[in-house]
Amino acid sequence: MTLLVTGGAGFIGSNFVLDWLAQSDERIVNLDALTYAGNRQNLALLDGDARHVFVHGDITDRKRVDRLLAEHRPRAVLHFAAESHVDRSIHGPGAFIKTNVEGTFTLLEAARAYWSALNGDEKAAFRFQHVSTDEVYGSLAPDAPAFSESHAYEPNSPYSASKAASDHLVRAWFHTYGLPVLTTNCSNNYGPYHFPEKLIPLMIVNALAAKPLPIYGDGLQVRDWLYVGDHCSAIRSVLARGRPGEVYNVGGWNEQPNRDIVRTICTLLDELRPDPAGPYARLITHVKDRPGHDRRYAIDARKIERELGWRPAETFETGIRKTVQWYLDHAGWVAAVQSGAYREWVDTNYNTR
Ligand code: NAD
Ligand code: TYD
Repeated sequence: MTLLVTGGAGFIGSNFVLDWLAQSDERIVNLDALTYAGNRQNLALLDGDARHVFVHGDITDRKRVDRLLAEHRPRAVLHFAAESHVDRSIHGPGAFIKTNVEGTFTLLEAARAYWSALNGDEKAAFRFQHVSTDEVYGSLAPDAPAFSESHAYEPNSPYSASKAASDHLVRAWFHTYGLPVLTTNCSNNYGPYHFPEKLIPLMIVNALAAKPLPIYGDGLQVRDWLYVGDHCSAIRSVLARGRPGEVYNVGGWNEQPNRDIVRTICTLLDELRPDPAGPYARLITHVKDRPGHDRRYAIDARKIERELGWRPAETFETGIRKTVQWYLDHAGWVAAVQSGAYREWVDTNYNTR
């Protein structure tokens, strides 16, 4: 049997592919456009492994997707591919509409044509699983209850608006065509292979290079952080036992303001790689806030626990320690991803703040 994964060279997708093949011999066909966020090195552990078929291609290419479905006959499509960074969506929203909206539409149409032609058991077992974000729900007041699956959609950034649009398309393909879809809306992930444009890896790599640690605004914005391995196990649970047409919120029960996250990273680095120049917290700086910055996200993950028995295995303390250690152990990966294009992005996002 085979799974078709999109975006499996990115942060969460590559963690999923590695986790999956560590536990199963079911083949993965991995379709990824290798944008700046896609990295073959994330999958280096699978070099020469016949269970992993990497395909360099774009999810907006309908003919390509049709051919892959016909050739590999997957039992499910797991859709991770996306433009995923809020700050980039503010600087250039076009790619977000193209990949997140048009790309999801293209996959849904290709999956619908493929699924419609399946027979009996194969048709009943097929799943289209959409990996989405809690950001579609917008921003919470400090004392408001966490996002449940029935929370209104109130996206505030071009990124979250494009993901919201993709969620709506997925929902509509279930209600209108009966395509057996599953959607997960997950909170902020962290862990190995996280591209250092996002908060946690950026702070780790900047600290190690003795560069400023740029906290947007007052740093009191709250996110709910989940170790990426726990997100992967949630996706596996939903694929195995989720009910078609349902949405499952996935979170770490770990709300923290950005300021505390950055301080924790500094404290861990002080312990694991002390800097003779002094504590890493000396590098913390406050910079101009992100426009439209969502103040708080929090996930109510009771439905996935109640229905599917999923709970995160890591606490933030265990997960962040593993993560910091991973970055210390993978200096080669860090150096390789800090290409010219990465440095241009850092200039674009931070030099004008
Ligand atoms: P990422 O940016 O690290 O990786 C995205 C991957 O998609 C890259 O490998 C990229 O090359 C590929 N891709 C982009 N455009 C493509 C296209 N047109 N065709 C084919 N491949 C394309 O993202 P991530 O953090 O791994 O996120 C994966 C998914 O999970 C996204 O859908 C994102 O919205 C969702 N999500 C992310 C988080 C998080 O904290 N990172 C949280 C919840 C949900
Ligand atoms: P990020 O990792 O970009 O995820 P998202 O915006 O999707 O939640 O940012 C997490 C939080 O950290 C968010 O509130 C913005 C903040 N942040 C900073 O304060 N400084 C930074 O350099 C970055 C990248 C993010």
